[in-house]
Amino acid sequence: MRALAGTDPGSRWEARLVRSAHPVVARVVDAAVARRGVVRVPGVGVLVADPRSARQVLTDTDAFAKNGPGSSGALWTPVLGDRVLLNMEGEDHRSLRRSLADLFSPRVVREVCDAAAGPVVSDAAARLRRGEEVDVVRLAREVSAAAIGVVVGLDPATPPAALLEASDAIESMVTWRTRTFDDAAAHRARAALAVVQDAAGSAHAAASSDTVMGRLARQGASLDDARSLAAALFLTGTGTVSSALPRIAGQLADAGLLEAPAATGCDVDDVVAEGLRMTTPSLATLRRCVRPTDVGGVRLRSDERVVVLLWWATRRDGGFEPGRPATGDLRHLWFGAGSHFCLGAPLALAELRAMTGMLLDVAGEQGLVVTSRRAARRVLVPRYAELTVSGAGVPHVRREGRAA
Ligand code: HEM
Repeated sequence: MRALAGTDPGSRWEARLVRSAHPVVARVVDAAVARRGVVRVPGVGVLVADPRSARQVLTDTDAFAKNGPGSSGALWTPVLGDRVLLNMEGEDHRSLRRSLADLFSPRVVREVCDAAAGPVVSDAAARLRRGEEVDVVRLAREVSAAAIGVVVGLDPATPPAALLEASDAIESMVTWRTRTFDDAAAHRARAALAVVQDAAGSAHAAASSDTVMGRLARQGASLDDARSLAAALFLTGTGTVSSALPRIAGQLADAGLLEAPAATGCDVDDVVAEGLRMTTPSLATLRRCVRPTDVGGVRLRSDERVVVLLWWATRRDGGFEPGRPATGDLRHLWFGAGSHFCLGAPLALAELRAMTGMLLDVAGEQGLVVTSRRAARRVLVPRYAELTVSGAGVPHVRREGRAA
């Protein structure tokens, strides 16, 4: 097995983001998986940090389940109900996934992305071309919130801040140690999600073929299913995309690829794919072992908790190198694998392509530099609190922390 990557500036910044988000857990995990890809840690569970074993756990649905006590699915059930994909298994899960197969078809993704990302991304490009600084964190938060707003049928007049506040409120309620919500916490979470669920309810009632929720209603999905699904898409689709873009921009800068003319040689799809491998915003996911199974040389017992360390698994392939194919067990692992593979991957890719493409275009014309960046502290999804860029020719004062 390859050693963990970590010496290039991009890898060091990634490690710093993860340690700033989860100071204690990240150090414990780093130490535990430094030499072995699969390791049992008493009181925590079995940590799985190599791509082959991670893929085995995610794809073997006879041996590993996402629902049941201690799973992330069980955490969300009191808030979202029991039919939100991420807490389902077996035939129920398969049939709901089948009914959602067209949810993010290429046409829907194009429409959502044009409406949500188009104006915000053009405005950011114009500001960069005028020599202004742009905070890429803010850009990504606005685009990801607007995209989910379009998906759930939020009134376009509602400011994205309403969704961002809801997303921050929920994120602040969950840590690595949160196993379940008590009644009061579930009530607070449901209150925060009302803005999304009420919008989805109205779009479902209108049953227009122009909206995602309306189309679900026309396919026969119940109001409860539409409300629950809208909340699930919101929870899974905002924090991940808004974490990814600034981290990809950071990787580009650290590799010297935001400098003109280097940026003109970068293919946007390669940059997004390799950027997602390097950043893997869904740091880890949980499973429960339902029958004794060998994984990476370790015999797992029934009912053991399995922590699939996606970020650590994708780290095994070295530093940021766009254009290098991620094949075999690593392929798309940042979106999971098997039956729970990310439902929103096509939308996430389109949003990231729109924003990264804009940065590469402007960088190709005039070069871009990172003028300041700061890691967010104690957050669920590791991310930058701020990462600003501006034209390379524009006088600026660099305000960067040192990569750890
Ligand atoms: C870069 C952005 C994203 C990343 C890295 C990401 C990653 C993931 C991963 C790793 C899983 C599988 C978790 C597991 O197996 O336990 C997943 C599932 C899921 N994702 Fe994403 N995601 C992203 C964006 C989105 C977006 C934009 C949406 C929706 C609009 C979305 C919706 C979902 C849903 C609904 C599931 C659950 C699927 C199921 O359980 O069947 N994701 N995502």
